[in-house]
Amino acid sequence: MMQYLRKIKDLGITGSMAKWYDKNSRESRMEELKSYAKDIAALVEAGCANPAAKPQGRPRILEVAPGPGYISIELSKLGSYTITGMDISEDFIKICKANAERESADVDFVQGNVSNMPFADASFDFLFCSAAFKNFHDPAQALREMYRVLKPKGGGLIIDMNRNASNAALKAEVDKMRLRGFSHLWVSLTFSIFLRKGAYTRAEFETMLASSPFSNWKIKEGGIGVCIYLNEAAAGVWGRSPQERG
Ligand SMILES: C[S@@+](CC[C@H](N)C(=O)[O-])C[C@H]1O[C@@H](n2cnc3c(N)ncnc32)[C@H](O)[C@@H]1O
Repeated sequence: MMQYLRKIKDLGITGSMAKWYDKNSRESRMEELKSYAKDIAALVEAGCANPAAKPQGRPRILEVAPGPGYISIELSKLGSYTITGMDISEDFIKICKANAERESADVDFVQGNVSNMPFADASFDFLFCSAAFKNFHDPAQALREMYRVLKPKGGGLIIDMNRNASNAALKAEVDKMRLRGFSHLWVSLTFSIFLRKGAYTRAEFETMLASSPFSNWKIKEGGIGVCIYLNEAAAGVWGRSPQERG
């Protein structure tokens, strides 16, 4: 149903669905979300070490569509960053703020639409967006907005589901969550029927990126997902480990 409504207009996740998503993320996805935060911190750290991309002062980082906000909250524990999370759902913004307060995390969560973000051009050194492209009404406009709010030497990481994900990969992903009973059934059905159908393939992401203002990106596929490294992250400047940089 949501995927059909999304074709007509931008829709956030609200109400009891947002509450369920928050609870499920906290109880079953924290290891995955923490590992994303570590990957992002490594990319940001690599950018800071590069004189061409080095931010002035604390790196300014944007999370687009944070849902309950756990990646940004975990990221805030890994370094000295100025982090903003922006989601269209007022309910999720309230949940994000409560989650950040509970963890004493310094993250600014604001309401906004990815199609028209409430930020000036070139505001951020790095941005990331996880599991949300399939939720956007106009993903091509989302890419244009991401390009606009990123500094020219800024990096970006988009992580999303791959519509070509196999049934076996989906099952392995759901099993990792260690859910039981109805929750297991519900998440399995949600992944295989609703989420995968609404997701994009690598080829579709390539087409969207080719018609976006981004000229530099790298896509990796694995498991049920697609990772897209943007700008300097794709050039390997943000993405190389300290050892590789020498
Ligand atoms: C599946 S959740 C992903 C949440 C989180 N990033 C994660 O990895 O768990 C998708 C999120 O996209 C948000 N969203 C949907 N359309 C949006 C839009 N046009 N602008 C900003 N956020 C949007 C929803 O409210 C929801 O929080």
